[in-house]
Amino acid sequence: MIADTILDQAVKDLFDGIRFQEGPEGLYDPLRYMIAIGGKRIRPRLCLTTYSIYKQALTEEILQPAAGLEVFHTFTLIHDDIMDHSPLRRGNPTVWKKWSEDTAILSGDVMSIDAYKRIAQAPASILPEVLQLFSKTASEVCDGQQLDMDFEKRNIVRMSEYMQMIGLKTGVLIACAARMGALIGGASRESQQHLYDYGYLLGLAFQVADDYLDAYGDEKVFGKPIGGDILNGKKSWLTVRAVELGAKGLEEALADNTAAPEEKIALVKALYNSVGVAEEARKTIGELSAQAIGKAREAALPEGGLEALEHFAHALVGRVK
Ligand code: IPE
Ligand code: IPE
Ligand code: MG
Ligand code: MG
Ligand code: MG
Repeated sequence: MIADTILDQAVKDLFDGIRFQEGPEGLYDPLRYMIAIGGKRIRPRLCLTTYSIYKQALTEEILQPAAGLEVFHTFTLIHDDIMDHSPLRRGNPTVWKKWSEDTAILSGDVMSIDAYKRIAQAPASILPEVLQLFSKTASEVCDGQQLDMDFEKRNIVRMSEYMQMIGLKTGVLIACAARMGALIGGASRESQQHLYDYGYLLGLAFQVADDYLDAYGDEKVFGKPIGGDILNGKKSWLTVRAVELGAKGLEEALADNTAAPEEKIALVKALYNSVGVAEEARKTIGELSAQAIGKAREAALPEGGLEALEHFAHALVGRVK
């Protein structure tokens, strides 16, 4: 195992030192901007964590693929912010807002290609497996994003459908990060699969927390506008669960685009509160995270591995941003 403080510093150094092609500046400045304003960087951190369960030192064989995961994630955010009409990301204007939608499309495209170049720096002996894992993941994220948009237009979405959707848009990339670290670190296929499952379940917990914070978080800390999901008519965890619990008038309130934004957010939150959905969300986040830890336990990890993954999961569950 490598100590947490060393892994934290390695992630910081990785993105402080990251370089993209100089020009055309109109294409690459948005990449530099998004990486510079940062984020939690949980995917590269998880990738380094699972690698460090098997290796005692970090080298380029893992650092570049780990960076690639964050670059890919950041690309998905640039496009997601166009799709979700979101003006704020990481406490700063989104790329489409700061530049234009055209810029956000093309800078996003080149950023996904940049991610591939970094992932492709994994050791040659396992590169086919790494690329297969990553490509499958990348297309699944698109599947999930499409379902997310499809659901906006539907009246009723079942919890099982919601869970499948967030598994695709969010779960698989966190799962991929966990597996990639283990794969490059030399873990057995069986352990890799358990770590993938750990990441997937943790990803579900992470997205439920994101949905919860979208309504109940503090904008200054969360870095995204509160109530955005409500205004977009998203089928968030809160919405799907509140309908299950019999909240009356919720679908109508979400579909009503005549109300002022502040009023709509207040009304929908009042309906959420009427069935106690916030407490339920917090409970579910805890349960999913416990299930994730159960998968890590099944992986029969070398000494210190389980503790590191428990620690990682606990930090995510307690998140406020
Ligand atoms: C936001 O991801 C999108 C989701 C999958 C919920 P993060 O919450 O990891 O965003 P950053 O990278 O920290 O900004
Ligand atoms: C985003 O989900 C998932 C991906 C970007 C793939 P959200 O739309 O909930 O993410 P935020 O809330 O904008 O970060
Ligand atoms: Mg979205
Ligand atoms: Mg969004
Ligand atoms: Mg969200």
